Parts: sequence; structure tokens; C-alpha cells
Amino acid sequence: MRTVIRETHNVSGAVVFLSCLLLLATSAHSGPEEDSVVKEGERLVHVLDCNICHTPKTFTPEGPRLDMSRLLSGHPSNDKLPEIPAASIGPAGWGGLFNNHLTAWAGPWGISFATNLTPDEETGIGLWAEDLFAGAIRNGKHMGAGRPILPPMPWEAYSRLSDEELHAVFTYLKSLPAIRNPVPDPIPPETEGE
Ligand code: HEC
Repeated sequence: MRTVIRETHNVSGAVVFLSCLLLLATSAHSGPEEDSVVKEGERLVHVLDCNICHTPKTFTPEGPRLDMSRLLSGHPSNDKLPEIPAASIGPAGWGGLFNNHLTAWAGPWGISFATNLTPDEETGIGLWAEDLFAGAIRNGKHMGAGRPILPPMPWEAYSRLSDEELHAVFTYLKSLPAIRNPVPDPIPPETEGE
């Protein structure tokens, strides 16, 4: 009788242990906690309007709309930019110009192109670790430590996000479908129009 009771205890102990393992394994992937971080990241990305510059548009009679099939994939690499009239930008001209998608921006800094924020490994942020992303937003430097990030990317405003908020934004971006779109490097002012 004694042995039977001990065996029953052992079995239920093993069941509890296995359920704990199962719980740990599932929460390491996509548990309710991770889902809520992704949801918060999505909310922040919409409130902070990363889409206005990083998502190409479709053009409707009511005006431009976000092209959800290319969500956050950056300046479309096949988009041909119109020529920029000489001397149109500067103290006597306009402060800056932008394309129809609002993904390419010309100003005294040259031409900058909104980058691909989807997790594509070659053309997006697929291989970026979170500290590179957080470093870029906090320091205004490419991948946290490279060349200065050009206007109009509002990194100074976003550098005031908390660590938790940046983590949520990054987690959401990493959860998006990867879209291959090689965004061009910025063009410095002196080679513009050549
Ligand atoms: C007003 C337009 C605009 C908005 C809004 C905007 N971006 Fe950008 N972003 C850009 C442009 C343009 C670049 C490219 C700048 C460059 O090449 O130096 C860029 C670059 C980046 C980069 C690349 C940084 C690097 O290391 O090279 C990241 C990451 C980024 N943006 C994230 C975001 C996120 C996240 C949001 C919203 C919270 C956002 N951006 C909102 C225009 C914008």
C-alpha cells in the first residue's frame, strides 16, 4: 500500500514538472505576454506615425493611403524620382521637397530615403539586434554608432521613448512579414542630380 501511494506522488510530481516545462517553453515563444508587447508596439508605431515616411502609399481619388501590402518596407526601390529643379532648395527657395510616397526627402542634407523596417535579413532590420535599433533612435547614429541619421527621421523626439516603449516598437517591427526592398543609400548634396 505504501509503495502505491509513493508511486502516485511521483507520478503527479512528474506531471507538475512537465507542465511547468511546457509552460516555460510556450511562454519563450509567443505567449500572451509577447502578444501584448507586439500590440503595444503596433499602437506606438501608429501613434508616432512611423508609417507616414516608412510605408509606401497607394494613390486614390481621396488622396494617398498607406499601402498595407508594403507596410513599413521603406522607400520603394523601383520608384523613379522626378528631377529636382536647380537651386529650388536653400535659403531663397524651399526648405525641402518630398516624393509622393513621402519616402524620399530632399533638403540641404542631400536626399534621404526612409529605410526598410521589416525583418527582411538583407534589406531590412532582420539581422539587427535590439541594442543597434535602440542605439540608432537614442544617439541619432546609423545602427547606433555610424554616420549621423539624416532628416527628417525624428530620432531626437523618439529618443525620449522609454526602454520598454522602444522594446515594444522593436518587437512589433520584428513580428511583421519580411519584405525584400533594397532602399538606396542617401545621396549627399554635392553629387545630387549628377
Ligand atoms: C518624417 C519622416 C519619418 C518618420 C515619421 C520616421 N522616420 Fe525613420 N527614417 C526616415 C528617413 C528619411 C530615414 C533615413 C535617414 C538616413 O538615411 O540617414 C529613416 C531611418 C530610420 C531608421 C534607420 C536608422 C539607421 O540606423 O540608419 C530607423 C531604425 C527608423 N528610421 C525607425 C523609425 C521608427 C521606428 C519610426 C517611428 C517611431 C520612424 N522611423 C519614423 C524618416 C522617418
